[in-house]
Amino acid sequence: MLDIKIQPLPDFPTQNGTTDSAWPVGRNRVLFVGHDFDTPGSSFDRFDRHVGGALRRAAVVAGFEGKAEQSLVMLAPASDIERLVLIGHGEAATLDPVGMEAAGAQASRLLSGATEAQFVFEGHGSVFAAHAAYGVVSSQYRFDLYRTGEPAGHDTKRLQGVTLHVADTEACAAQWADLSAVIHGVFRARDLVTEPPNVLTPPEFARRIETLRELGVTVDILDAAAMRELGFGALLGVAQGSDQEARLAVMQWKGGQGDAQPLAFVGKGVTFDSGGISIKPAAGMDEMKTDMGGAATVVGLMEALARRRTTAHVVGLVGLVENMLSGNAQRPGDVVKSYAGTTIEVLNTDAEGRLVLADVLAYAKARFAPKFIVDLATLTGAIVVSLGYVRAGLFSNDDTLAQDLYTLGETVGEGVWRMPMGKAYDKLLKSDIADIKNITGRPGSAITAAQFLARFVGDTPWAHLDIAGVAWRSDAGPIGPKGATGFGVRLLDALVRSHETGAGRAA
Ligand code: BES
Ligand code: MN
Ligand code: ZN
Repeated sequence: MLDIKIQPLPDFPTQNGTTDSAWPVGRNRVLFVGHDFDTPGSSFDRFDRHVGGALRRAAVVAGFEGKAEQSLVMLAPASDIERLVLIGHGEAATLDPVGMEAAGAQASRLLSGATEAQFVFEGHGSVFAAHAAYGVVSSQYRFDLYRTGEPAGHDTKRLQGVTLHVADTEACAAQWADLSAVIHGVFRARDLVTEPPNVLTPPEFARRIETLRELGVTVDILDAAAMRELGFGALLGVAQGSDQEARLAVMQWKGGQGDAQPLAFVGKGVTFDSGGISIKPAAGMDEMKTDMGGAATVVGLMEALARRRTTAHVVGLVGLVENMLSGNAQRPGDVVKSYAGTTIEVLNTDAEGRLVLADVLAYAKARFAPKFIVDLATLTGAIVVSLGYVRAGLFSNDDTLAQDLYTLGETVGEGVWRMPMGKAYDKLLKSDIADIKNITGRPGSAITAAQFLARFVGDTPWAHLDIAGVAWRSDAGPIGPKGATGFGVRLLDALVRSHETGAGRAA
């Protein structure tokens, strides 16, 4: 990962004559500015003097006014500078973290070819500088594990280090400590989602989760025999067509208060979803390696929380299975008995995610009696029809939890949109021969999927995030490349933060 350093901005000693020896030196310099950038003695002014007045002339020619999304690049304006970049962030009063992250990502694009850069922030930019760093690091994400041979030409010219020059280094460093914990979690989630399905099988996924122990997370792995003993009939029915054995991973971070009711996070971890006997069409089936995106986010979240040593008590549970075809695969028409005791008629083996989650949700509730449960799942194509690739679907039985998730999503740039639930949808789950069935008709089918899950959480405050449209993107986003997004790590980290007791970090 890109190295971030933080240094104090030098005082502005004199306005003329002095050579700027204390000034951020480096061949690539980026100045983040608002509308009021051109004042005597400002960073802009000093940069301009360094290049003999060319920067001010360039700003005039380019019509640069420091507005958000505006930028300007000067190549080799002085013998000691390769790139001089101006990035606008708009008025200081309307600065927001998400905008600064996009500005950081924009800077990293404009620096293409540079290996190091000095970022200069004036005035109130010290905390926002950490967000710009987050944008740079996030947008520089790469997954090169399976490329052999020499890296392509541009690879050796990747940005390797950025120094942030800020007025208040302490404020910046504190913010960066938290954001850097979060981006480690986001990268862990992206790595897991990007791994190919022949490598990341349920047992291998469980082994990767065990590495969280190094960060102080308690990890408990249950194999198929243990789950059979517990009565996980719904989850095991999905797994039975695969040669890969199912796993349940239980992660726990006590945050110094192991007795308090935990916050629980549950993830769908289908390492490959062929559809089973209700097999999917061939086109695009490879994308079903991402059907463990919910589980990846829960793992990434636990990593972020452990790295920043949250004071909250948090548990993460992920159900890991592969949905395949074989002589022993689950058939449409099978009836399975879930951990909660509810019987389920499986009318479509491709509606497997809800079967996995049914057991994990009920087990999370029974074992931990959590304060609330949030689950994440690439659950339905129908949510993509509703909300596109922009927002995750939010379903909840608790208005406060739903409102919190909505508001935090706006703040951190991971948007969710609440969908309706209710009796009229629930009754569509009625089965002819069992308690419920696992599919309804196509109308409202993201909602009926959520309604199915609701059967297994009872009155525990609960929210379900259907991330089928946002876990993977086919084009680059504002602060991330195409491919896995790690959606939800940031949002749920913010949710946990809002439930932390007391200040500071866990011992
Ligand atoms: N994993 C899929 C949902 C999905 C679709 C995820 C697109 C990511 C992108 C899920 O298991 C599934 O197959 N859902 C079916 C349900 C149907 C059979 C009731 C769907 O949405 O079509
Ligand atoms: Mn499916
Ligand atoms: Zn699936």
